[in-house]
Amino acid sequence: MSEGVQTSPAFTPRVFSGIQPSGDLHLGNYLGALKRFADAQNKGVQSIYCMVDQHAITVWQDPEKLRQATRELAAGFIASGVDPKRSILFNQSQVAEHAQLAWIFNCVARMGWMKRMTQFKDKAGKNAENASLGLFGYPALMAADILIYHATHVPVGEDQKQHIELTRDIAAKFNHDYGVDFFPMTEPVIEGAATRVMSLRDGSKKMSKSDPSDASRINMTDDADTIAGKIRKAKTDAEALPSEAEGLKERPEARNLVNIYAALADMTVAEVLAENGGQQFSAFKPKLSDLAVAKLAPISTEMARLMTQPDEIDAILRHGAAQAREIAAPILARTYDIVGMVR
Ligand code: TYM
Repeated sequence: MSEGVQTSPAFTPRVFSGIQPSGDLHLGNYLGALKRFADAQNKGVQSIYCMVDQHAITVWQDPEKLRQATRELAAGFIASGVDPKRSILFNQSQVAEHAQLAWIFNCVARMGWMKRMTQFKDKAGKNAENASLGLFGYPALMAADILIYHATHVPVGEDQKQHIELTRDIAAKFNHDYGVDFFPMTEPVIEGAATRVMSLRDGSKKMSKSDPSDASRINMTDDADTIAGKIRKAKTDAEALPSEAEGLKERPEARNLVNIYAALADMTVAEVLAENGGQQFSAFKPKLSDLAVAKLAPISTEMARLMTQPDEIDAILRHGAAQAREIAAPILARTYDIVGMVR
């Protein structure tokens, strides 16, 4: 360990999370991520939220669409309650320290670790030889996103759990190899009823922007009629709702709709079932769609309003990036000292 390097055994609580600007935001992103980001901010924890444009380009993105999607995502954050005056909100490529730390982590992470990542296997599919090197190295950049701020907590949906575990492995190996206690063991925060929102057409598949069927998801930009129509057509079974969560075990589609209801209403699944147990879906679905419209319509209206002022969005992101750099730059400098880079 070089002289002057500070080790930090105790880390101040700090939340970081990111979303890719690679297409329409859906209900899974809102309930699994955005809504919980606003909740974390409102609890008063320092919160840093990022539009990860460098992750998005690990698969092809049309440049003009990427710019548009980044601004739309920023609008989605703000409309969901992330306040740029209280949280740091920016896009990844404006803070070069992410990519700089990612290079160091590329040299810490092992090929075998990366090969086990299920998201890579899913996204690369059968044609892994033709996937970009960036897609393979993606989790090292994600670890850098988190650790460049010494973030202690990362709210995410369940699908990101493996990546956070890898982040911990990278931090532990770095600390071990260099004999320091420099990077924290970040905790994934995967809480609440909607950490894995499923497709409305198939309860065994997660709701995803890459699903070819638009009816499988509720987009944040869907209007009230579209939302109601998709919920009406959502796959269910013929049984009434049970009165206890146990009764949802073998009923993935029913469980999904109850989870969505609970998360939108800020209730537990037990509370939803206590209130609605015994009801048929013909009665429960209209209630769910009224609730979804009541919660989502103001967000999509606000997103549309914000999108009429792209210059303001850009200014917010530039300001957020400057704030983020103030935290990231000293952590990168200390990392360079630890690694033995002359500066
Ligand atoms: P991304 O952009 O695919 O998704 C953004 C967030 O939405 C959550 N999510 C869901 N939650 C519940 N149900 C669903 N059906 C659903 N679909 C998506 C995701 O879990 C995520 O929290 N690798 C990340 C982005 C990232 C990141 C980071 C996250 C890059 N660097 C650092 C946290 C910290 C991703 O691709 O998320």
